[in-house]
Amino acid sequence: MAKIIGGVTSSHIPAVGNAITNGLTQEPYWKRFFDGYEPAKAWLRAQKPDVVIVVYNDHGLNFFLDKVPTFALGCADVYHNDDEGWALKPVPPFKGNAQFSWHIAESLMSQDFDICTCQEMKVDHGFVNPLLALYGQCDVWPVTTIPLAVNTVQHPVPTARRCLALGHALRRAVESYPEDMRVVVLGTGGMSHQLQGERAGLIDVEFDLECMDKIANDPQWLTQFSNAELMRRAGTEGIETIMWLVMRGALQSNVKVVHKHYHAPISNTGAGVLVLENYS
Ligand code: DHB
Ligand code: FE
Repeated sequence: MAKIIGGVTSSHIPAVGNAITNGLTQEPYWKRFFDGYEPAKAWLRAQKPDVVIVVYNDHGLNFFLDKVPTFALGCADVYHNDDEGWALKPVPPFKGNAQFSWHIAESLMSQDFDICTCQEMKVDHGFVNPLLALYGQCDVWPVTTIPLAVNTVQHPVPTARRCLALGHALRRAVESYPEDMRVVVLGTGGMSHQLQGERAGLIDVEFDLECMDKIANDPQWLTQFSNAELMRRAGTEGIETIMWLVMRGALQSNVKVVHKHYHAPISNTGAGVLVLENYS
């Protein structure tokens, strides 16, 4: 049977992709941020997942504001990347697993998650940069990926509560797949940031650290907040952190915290890395 072995979180800041491709990761500005990925990279090398389900939001590459599904699952055998305006160097295509995706789609639907299925899906910095930070630049990506896009851009966006519930459903979907497979769920985006308007530049370190602790140990805590409350605290783009709850919901209720790292500011954002492992 397929098995979820753990979850990882990562910011998906566009500048991270450029720092990696331009060889800047050891520069003073970036070093501490990238050092925070080393234990996560080591964990992935040791655990060797076959599949990473990447929970991310599209920022206008695959979906534009005229049509934005709340939840969209990639159901393709390959996913291509492109630059949607950050001068990012496109990366090699990602191998998918359409058969596994369709199983997940069927299962999510049967659990009342009416998701959009995408047999073609271009993946943007929200998907690519966490994988670049975790696996480095590759000619061929060493893992199969499945994109799960959550709308955090065009309001109304789903609640934290709904994202956690999606994670619960995702776990049942994965763990009912008959093929032996080791699966990691990667929650991307966040943490606090706001890119525009009067509060542009907002970062709330205290709230970010509390979110990291609660996501690991008490994820229900976050579901008490409305999206307006989350954006008041974490900024309009800080709402992206709700995607971490999809990852968390897909894990067991008690998990081992393998690694935790926070760095702010980096670009415009508070950036957190978590590695959570299921006990069995
Ligand atoms: C930044 C962060 C994001 O999540 C994003 O999508 C774009 C920019 C930033 O910190 O610059
Ligand atoms: Fe973003």
